[in-house]
Amino acid sequence: MHPHHHDYPQAVVPNPPPRRLLKGQAAIVTGASSGIGRAVAISMGAAGANVCLNYSSEAHAAEEAVAEIESHGSHAFAHKADVSNEEQVLAMFDAVRREFGTFDILVNNAGLQQDAKIEDLTLAQWQKVIDVNLTGQFLCSREAVREFKKRGVRPEVSCAAGKIICMSSVHEVIPWAGHVNYAASKGGVMLMMKSIAQEVAPWRIRVNSICPGAIRTPINTEAWDTPEHYEALMKLIPYKRIGEPSEIGRAAVWLASDDSDYIHGTSLFVDGGMTLYPGFEAGG
Ligand code: BGC
Repeated sequence: MHPHHHDYPQAVVPNPPPRRLLKGQAAIVTGASSGIGRAVAISMGAAGANVCLNYSSEAHAAEEAVAEIESHGSHAFAHKADVSNEEQVLAMFDAVRREFGTFDILVNNAGLQQDAKIEDLTLAQWQKVIDVNLTGQFLCSREAVREFKKRGVRPEVSCAAGKIICMSSVHEVIPWAGHVNYAASKGGVMLMMKSIAQEVAPWRIRVNSICPGAIRTPINTEAWDTPEHYEALMKLIPYKRIGEPSEIGRAAVWLASDDSDYIHGTSLFVDGGMTLYPGFEAGG
């Protein structure tokens, strides 16, 4: 498929059967109408969790994902909210309590890019990306912590009172020219996540991040939509294939499950080695 890489073994994408790691739990996934959020919501549903799929504009796509989750036997519903709007976030968490009683997992996934050279980056572009990617994660995390602290641990459901997963990026550590607002938001997510983790650990609230590399989603279509673009992307990925959304879905299920109970305050990179300074493969 990618003849330039005939020297390497052909890439095989795993597709293991889901395990019911989240049976009896409920999850909120923000930005769940497309891309990584959609895959995480579906993986969590297949793992036995009930799921609230937050979306900001794509109602139809969110409802399709809801239907897919319900076909696995879990309960799911879509809820429209702008995660950067405090009132809408509070209303969403109320809706989740009405529907599920309580919840065990928050996946702070909603995020976007608005790219421009630094000299052309408008205040509106800066603000929008910080509002959704960083402030949105803060507002949702705060509501989750309030719920988890109040409710406490139910040992029959999970060892933890609750789990928060922040969707960060390799760009929480890799600087990114032309994407200053985005990289700043993800750098902010890193220390927001770790600071919340430090604060809430005694209440058995687990907080971690997933840092995806290049994953095949609508946010980065230009990076993989032609053979030339794909070839250029491979220079940045030692494992020599793009990541699939389902691979982030499986990582999120595991990070939300008791299988990872002692993992706390960590950034889990799922990036095919993108953070390994691939430019140093030869030279240095
Ligand atoms: C960005 C993508 C990019 C990837 C690797 C992600 O956080 O949203 O556009 O392809 O990082 O650079």
